[in-house]
Amino acid sequence: MKVIKVKDYQELSEVASKIFIDLIKEKPDCNLGLATGSSPLGLYEKLIESYKKGEISFKNVKTYNLDEYCELPRNHEQSYFSFMHRNLFDHVDVSPENINIPNSEVEDLEKECERYNNVLNANKIDLQLLGIGANGHIGFNEPGTSFTSQTSIIELAEKTREDNKRFFNSIDEVPKYAITMGIKNILDAKAIVLIANGKNKADAINKLINGEVTEDFPASALKNHPNVTVIIDEEAASLL
Ligand code: GLP
Repeated sequence: MKVIKVKDYQELSEVASKIFIDLIKEKPDCNLGLATGSSPLGLYEKLIESYKKGEISFKNVKTYNLDEYCELPRNHEQSYFSFMHRNLFDHVDVSPENINIPNSEVEDLEKECERYNNVLNANKIDLQLLGIGANGHIGFNEPGTSFTSQTSIIELAEKTREDNKRFFNSIDEVPKYAITMGIKNILDAKAIVLIANGKNKADAINKLINGEVTEDFPASALKNHPNVTVIIDEEAASLL
């Protein structure tokens, strides 16, 4: 695992976006694994800037999102479908048919997991973006998830619902279930970039870098991958 420490969120977003911009320039038809949450917002802004300057195009890029809440329609402002359109897709030239996000609107969610998993198995991700939950989750793979897990429906940990309630009016509105790529799907990516900023992530980053590899801490699975770059700001690195 390569660890890059930067000063602040601004620098984190610059360094991380450069990795994505370089890949899109080098391989315009690359497969990108994308993430939601607050962490990637600055990076997405930089990608939009780069697109607007004419440096990169998403015309032939295919995207694969990590996860999606269950119980929310796609047009709910907190669905990850809405999040991705609002923060990236609506501002670049990505083709709608190249956007892949688990769809929890369908009636048979198990079937949807199988469909999404088949899509992932048929399209190797060149570069996967990850944030990290304060409890070490990646995607929505909560502590205790098997490292061999594939796309599935998971129950969100109380800690995760607590952390994400800031986006909703109350904890009762935060969905209890989600569809997520499994840890195996994430590890199948050719390269992975994990970004973390702020004091709230310091403990998780310390466990990731100095702790053992254990299913109790999902992000530790990344230590079994040959090409992972962890980019952290000073606050996230403060317990190292
Ligand atoms: C969310 C997402 C993850 C994300 C994490 C951290 O619940 N499912 O993909 O990495 O939690 O979010 P944030 O970046 O807002 O701290």
